[in-house]
Amino acid sequence: MTSLALINQLLGQPPNVSEHGYQIDHIIEFCHWFMGSLFLGWSCYFIFVLWRFHKKRNPVANHEGVTSGISTHLEFAVVLIEAVLLIGFALPLWAKRVNDFPNDKNAILVHAIGQQFNWNFHLPGPDGVFGRVDLSLVSNSNPVGLDQSDPHAKDDLVVLGELHVPVDRNVIVDISSKDVIHNFALPNLRIAQDAIPGQIIPMWFKPVKTGSYDIVCGQLCGLGHYAMKGTLVVDTPQDYQAWLKERAELSASPAAPPALQRPPGEPPVGPSPGTVPPPGAPKTANPPGGG
Ligand code: CUA
Repeated sequence: MTSLALINQLLGQPPNVSEHGYQIDHIIEFCHWFMGSLFLGWSCYFIFVLWRFHKKRNPVANHEGVTSGISTHLEFAVVLIEAVLLIGFALPLWAKRVNDFPNDKNAILVHAIGQQFNWNFHLPGPDGVFGRVDLSLVSNSNPVGLDQSDPHAKDDLVVLGELHVPVDRNVIVDISSKDVIHNFALPNLRIAQDAIPGQIIPMWFKPVKTGSYDIVCGQLCGLGHYAMKGTLVVDTPQDYQAWLKERAELSASPAAPPALQRPPGEPPVGPSPGTVPPPGAPKTANPPGGG
């Protein structure tokens, strides 16, 4: 660990487990040290100005003002450093994330569908092709609206809350939402992407360390936003295959339980999956003529 990384630890940054994450961490570290030094610098300057231009020291107004050019040089240096950070580091890093998608057949493809207040994951199964989905087929037992009459859908996996991926493989996640704007955020993998209704937005990352990591919703999306959590499990290749097999067996049995429920004892928050009322529907079901 470098001395720069100290500040990330102080700020409670969770450990990075993605291939590109250290670059994000470097920017965060540098920005915090830079902003910290600016804060110190401007604070000292402010106190100096209070003392230097106090009324007692300057009974008569000085019409000439400051003649030294040092503040101009300082301001320019700050702008230059910020421009280098933005143009030299932040934009290229972002461009690599959004433009350079891995073009390898080995990449894991997943669809992540947000809804109040859960993450659904749709995997293509052994055939590698996603089955057709249709909004009109969405129900309690079919959270992503998978069309079972499509041959490609037969081997598809739909899991709730817990997504497994193998370590050291590129993962491409297509992110969408069934209701409002959510944000698919993986703090340990230093990546996040808004889930916007009506849009499918891809993101990619490469996990480099096995373990269980949080999936959180990064946009305030309603009363249950705080509980919209999931788990990303980075597996060894063997464990990943075992998980795929287990999920395939579970989804083949008709009474397949969902992959992950809230911890026992915690009441569900907000409408349960698939019962989100259509826009314009009355919020409460009052019996007609009642009251
Ligand atoms: Cu979904 Cu916050």
